[in-house]
Amino acid sequence: MNIHLIENGRLIIVSNRLPFTVRLVEDQITFDESAGGLVTGLSTFLDSYKYHFPKQEAHVWLGWPGSTIPDEFKDQVRARAMAECGSYPVFLSHSDMEQFYWGFCNKTIWPLFHYFPSYTSYEEEFWQTYQQVNQKFCDALLEVLKPQDVVWVQDYHLMLLPRMLRDKVPQIPVGFFLHIPFPSFEIFRLLPPRWRRDLLEGLLGADLVGFHTYEYTQHFLQSVLRILGQEHQMGYVALPDHVSKIETYPMGIDFKKFFETSIAPETQLEREKLKQSLAGFRTVLSIDRLDYSKGILNRLEGFELLLDTYPEYRGKLILILVVVPSRIGVLHYELMKRQIEELVGRINGKFGSIGWTPVIYQYRHLSLYPLSALYGMSEVAMVTPLRDGMNLIAKEYVSSRTDRTGVLILSEMAGAAKELGEAIIVNPNDRRELANALKEALEMPREEQERRNAIMQERLRRYDVVRWATDFVSQLGQMRGIQEQYGEKPPVIKHIAEKYSQAGKRLLLIDYDSALLPAERRPHLTAPPETSLNLLQRLAADHRNSVVLISGAQKPALEQWFRNLPVGMIAENGMWVREHEAEWQAAGSQNKSWKESLLNVLLQYADRIPGSFVEEKEHSITLQYWAADPDQSRNLASELMDNLVHFTANIDVQISQGYKVLEIRNAGVNKGRAANRWLSNPEYSFILAVGDDWTNDDLFRSLPPGAYCLRVGSARQRGRSDFRNSDEVYTFLRLLANFNCGVRHPN
Ligand code: F6P
Repeated sequence: MNIHLIENGRLIIVSNRLPFTVRLVEDQITFDESAGGLVTGLSTFLDSYKYHFPKQEAHVWLGWPGSTIPDEFKDQVRARAMAECGSYPVFLSHSDMEQFYWGFCNKTIWPLFHYFPSYTSYEEEFWQTYQQVNQKFCDALLEVLKPQDVVWVQDYHLMLLPRMLRDKVPQIPVGFFLHIPFPSFEIFRLLPPRWRRDLLEGLLGADLVGFHTYEYTQHFLQSVLRILGQEHQMGYVALPDHVSKIETYPMGIDFKKFFETSIAPETQLEREKLKQSLAGFRTVLSIDRLDYSKGILNRLEGFELLLDTYPEYRGKLILILVVVPSRIGVLHYELMKRQIEELVGRINGKFGSIGWTPVIYQYRHLSLYPLSALYGMSEVAMVTPLRDGMNLIAKEYVSSRTDRTGVLILSEMAGAAKELGEAIIVNPNDRRELANALKEALEMPREEQERRNAIMQERLRRYDVVRWATDFVSQLGQMRGIQEQYGEKPPVIKHIAEKYSQAGKRLLLIDYDSALLPAERRPHLTAPPETSLNLLQRLAADHRNSVVLISGAQKPALEQWFRNLPVGMIAENGMWVREHEAEWQAAGSQNKSWKESLLNVLLQYADRIPGSFVEEKEHSITLQYWAADPDQSRNLASELMDNLVHFTANIDVQISQGYKVLEIRNAGVNKGRAANRWLSNPEYSFILAVGDDWTNDDLFRSLPPGAYCLRVGSARQRGRSDFRNSDEVYTFLRLLANFNCGVRHPN
């Protein structure tokens, strides 16, 4: 097992459900095994983990114990959970569970993320409790965490937890894995804006965020771009305090266990019993948790159509339909159960005879041996969810076919279809396709079955659940190293403030547009709010400071906004320079002969990019596309860039691409060159430049060694920014202003 990172610490798994469920019967506490893919998969991984790291307390599993525990039993449950299961329970009240688990988790996120928007509730109370319960998990974690630990948070119940944890213990590596689909942007955006922002930011608090399929990963990155405005580079999202990696890890199963259980004597016994009662019939298997996302009704209708269309199967074929009880009490689940039972009744009534029941329906849990016997004896398995994050039943069926016969019919809407392409892949909404797939499966030659299963089994054997978890945890371990490559750490801010406080003469180069204006006000540069003028006034009032404001705005606007401040100014992104109490001076060529023809080119593109506009300045023109669709504008902007490069081959202009803005100005005009007016003065012992790294590249590059540059907003390169937004810049500048002339001012 290739996990180096946790040799000194422990792996802390956090999930809503613990691997055991605590029940209180007549004042007696019992611990029963929990069911579900998440707990089974992670338990298998942890067994193997313990084997490879036989130290004491290699891991802790933190989660809800499966029921509401009265206060007087909590100590007892806590002690037993830790001693017997290495687990730390998070106790939740009835009302917490009502609003959190039954509410936000299963009535909001679950239906929405499975593409059932009409089943989705948007209750403010659910959301409030979801936040509170995530906070409770965070508090509980803080009780158990030790400095060397690594935390791995699981699933949609705890999407806010990574950010909460990072805010409290930034040094602890945090991973997150989503076990359900992450929907496309058009679905995700249905969540109220506050919720969807917080959820994305919550997840991005993790160092590593994992999804089952490449599509879910892309969906997530799309939402991050469109909602938070954060670009990614090869799956890395650069945030002010860290970098988050977004990656695909398709969850596997315990292949060996399913393969071996299939030939275990206990399974053989179960199989014999089944064979006796089903003698003479061919069998198709369907097993699911009761859930509207599983497509059970469509499957039954497909089966019905088969019997309708191909009468030769009547009297010969049985569908074994096992429905495992789940989330009892949620309305849509109850309705679904009733509909399933009605449909089963209709099919049996329509086709059945005294000696043949077409659908054998069971509503119950199955333990391992009877389950394995069913897998082993069913010629066909129909796994046709309408939407499913992964679907482990499909993988379990294939792994249990030790003689390599058997046919899997698999929905293209299940994450598993990405790996099990040798199955018969169907669209679960097409009943005709389901019926035909059944016929194809029942008639598939044995060699073909063996060929397909051999390929799938090999894949499942190689990428099993232990490999899945090991890959995730190993990558998580490497993230700290990657974080370090991304540049300075947050304490650098304190360090800079300290250096500032000790310096004699200081130069502060502040990019007004990106550092002081809130992002939403940048497209149309506007006057600064009163508070920022006051702050700049305080900074400039210190006789040791030279404050220079840099902007893309034109001279008259800057003059008007900052006329009362003792500051230097750079206008039109470096075209004009004005020292305090001096006149404006051009910092580059004033040629404008190129403007008209290029203006037309930009206008043509503005017409093609809804939400964009062209701004003409004295010596430059810009195309701004802040409000445009990010994908469309990205493509058209790079097309425009290409065209302009050809167009301007013989003209002495430069084209620069900023964050959602493209600017054309005379060659040699830039913020760095303009700032030289101040930078060339040797008397500054402290130099600081602050702005986004899109439009301040030249400025940052022209800084002398020892100067500081602080980046704002989403980073352009695989680098990190220092401030998320202008609010954070203000906080920092206030910190500096507090050192004015050695006197501390109140904030
Ligand atoms: O698919 C996500 C998942 O959390 C599985 O891991 C689990 O088997 C299933 O949902 C049911 O979860 P629960 O019974 O805890 O709501």
